Amino acid sequence: MDQRTLGSTGKDVSVVGLGTWQLGADWGEVSEADAQAVLEASVASGVTFFDTADVYGDGRSEQIIGEYLRTSGAPVTVATKMGRRLDQVPQNYTLANFRSWTDRSRRNLGVDTLDLVQLHCPPSATVADEATYDALRTLVDDGAIAAYGVSVETCDQALAAIEHGAASVQIILNAFRLKPLDEVLPAALAKGVGIIVRVPLASGLLSGRYSNETVFAYNDHRSYNRRGEAFDVGETFSGVDYETGLQAAKEFAALATEHGPDGATPAQVAIAWVAQQPGVTTVIPGARNVDQARANAAAGALPALSEDLLAGVQRIYDDHLRAAIHPRW
Ligand SMILES: NC(=O)c1ccc[n+]([C@@H]2O[C@H](COP(=O)([O-])OP(=O)(O)OC[C@H]3O[C@@H](n4cnc5c(N)ncnc54)[C@H](OP(=O)(O)O)[C@@H]3O)[C@@H](O)[C@H]2O)c1
Repeated sequence: MDQRTLGSTGKDVSVVGLGTWQLGADWGEVSEADAQAVLEASVASGVTFFDTADVYGDGRSEQIIGEYLRTSGAPVTVATKMGRRLDQVPQNYTLANFRSWTDRSRRNLGVDTLDLVQLHCPPSATVADEATYDALRTLVDDGAIAAYGVSVETCDQALAAIEHGAASVQIILNAFRLKPLDEVLPAALAKGVGIIVRVPLASGLLSGRYSNETVFAYNDHRSYNRRGEAFDVGETFSGVDYETGLQAAKEFAALATEHGPDGATPAQVAIAWVAQQPGVTTVIPGARNVDQARANAAAGALPALSEDLLAGVQRIYDDHLRAAIHPRW
């Protein structure tokens, strides 16, 4: 699989990485053995980048990754996140809290220095405040972290983080969320900032597998956050209303079958579409099992998508999603 340099971290990471929110068991149950098998299958398929957070399973995802790194010795770059163990208000983003959060992540992951720490969707005022970055630079000077980035909800926040010199920005970009193509990816390219793309499958919608009858576990955010009850609704199905998303996903699956590479599934075409956008460093689909992990990694080696496919994505977005999605994130 192709490797790309992740902004100023200087680390080369696979164009398809692995998101590990699922492995914290916040999306229904995942056993420790199944979680380890997903990490192993991903690395065996060429993945060299994992994304986690201190709150996924309240540290379980980090601990599972730490255990995997200890036993396998695999050369994986791990990005974690901090900032959601307290309320997301500007006064909580202090150097003292940063130290305490990163110390916990270092213990969970079993490392002295974290490869990359991302602020986990902080408020806009925090993203725009130079004091935030001063505190993060202190952690680098201390040797607690090697680099820092920001995981954002909106394009405006992404542009602010890029302007303030973050090594990386994590953002949602997928066939149902096109706005980052307008300004964020060009700005990141111009400044050499790494772009980590999350939610590439719109929480699985773009696989085309769901219907009105699909039941998600009670403790899966696709049950309990459909209207943003627990956190930003943009994190669940990309903020797309479920009924609208089903129709758009049906059209995307037909497009992928007609104009995608032979044998590629809609989920793989959706991931390849993200990975092939200029300015994207790595895309981090979440995988619940080994089959998904392998299929997602293979999407990193698909050939360039056709003009018909690219035009079809724009048409589906314009027809069903632009009006609700574009102004909001
Ligand atoms: N605020 C933040 O910083 C933030 C927020 C959200 C996510 N993230 C990160 O981004 C990662 C990715 O986002 P995400 O997991 O929320 O959404 P996603 O990658 O768009 O969707 C993941 C879901 O897609 C389905 N899927 C995965 N591979 C598939 C395949 N090959 N074929 C068919 N279906 C497949 C699975 O659904 P089923 O479970 O139905 O099988 C899986 O749970 C997370 O794991 C996390 O690391 C960060």
